[in-house]
Amino acid sequence: MFLCLAAIWVLASADVSAGQRLDCPAKCGDVDIQFPFGIGDNCSFHTGFTLSCNSTEGGAMKPYKSTLEVTNISLADGMAWVKAPTISSQCYVPSTRTVEVSNGWLNLKHTPFWISEVNNTIIVIGCNTLAYMTSFSVSISPISFMY
Ligand SMILES: *[C@@H]1O[C@H](CO)[C@@H](O)[C@H](O)[C@H]1NC(C)=O
Ligand SMILES: *[C@@H]1O[C@H](CO)[C@@H](O)[C@H](O)[C@H]1NC(C)=O
Ligand SMILES: *[C@@H]1O[C@H](CO)[C@@H](O)[C@H](O)[C@H]1NC(C)=O
Ligand SMILES: *[C@@H]1O[C@H](CO)[C@@H](O)[C@H](O)[C@H]1NC(C)=O
Repeated sequence: MFLCLAAIWVLASADVSAGQRLDCPAKCGDVDIQFPFGIGDNCSFHTGFTLSCNSTEGGAMKPYKSTLEVTNISLADGMAWVKAPTISSQCYVPSTRTVEVSNGWLNLKHTPFWISEVNNTIIVIGCNTLAYMTSFSVSISPISFMY
């Protein structure tokens, strides 16, 4: 089974009028950082929008929300894009006749974000495979494909 979930769209819930703060970086690497987001607490509207601009192993600078890499921010769409930190899978292992379960979680507790239920796409490729997304309180768009 090959499960590919490249990115998770996260929706900013706060509706804050734009206004870049003085002396705050407007960019981190290739990503535009617009208020209410900011690099460091003093540049953001609220700690929930505080990002850090870290150098990566390759030397490039990239913005992070704690450990999540932020790849784009669109205030017009009320969305930010982050890289999915983990991929869940449940694969049958013929040699041991067991199902190997790996659960990936994205914890957005105490943040002003939730996962967009309309802009995420889950893709599964394989035979007799099933893909679904779930959350603690609600199940989001269960999708099952036979390929
Ligand atoms: C943030 O602002 C406070 C108050 O102006 C200041 O004391 C502090 O040094 C600033 N922190 C950073 C990281 O610039
Ligand atoms: C980025 O840097 C901040 C501040 O040093 C740190 O707290 C955070 O864990 C770092 N994030 C990553 C993904 O390395
Ligand atoms: C960021 O998102 C906006 C709005 O969807 C889009 O126009 C822009 O091209 C994106 N930037 C990158 C670097 O993907
Ligand atoms: C998110 O999905 C909605 C509904 O399909 C669409 O109208 C909107 O353009 C999408 N936004 C982005 C940034 O892809």
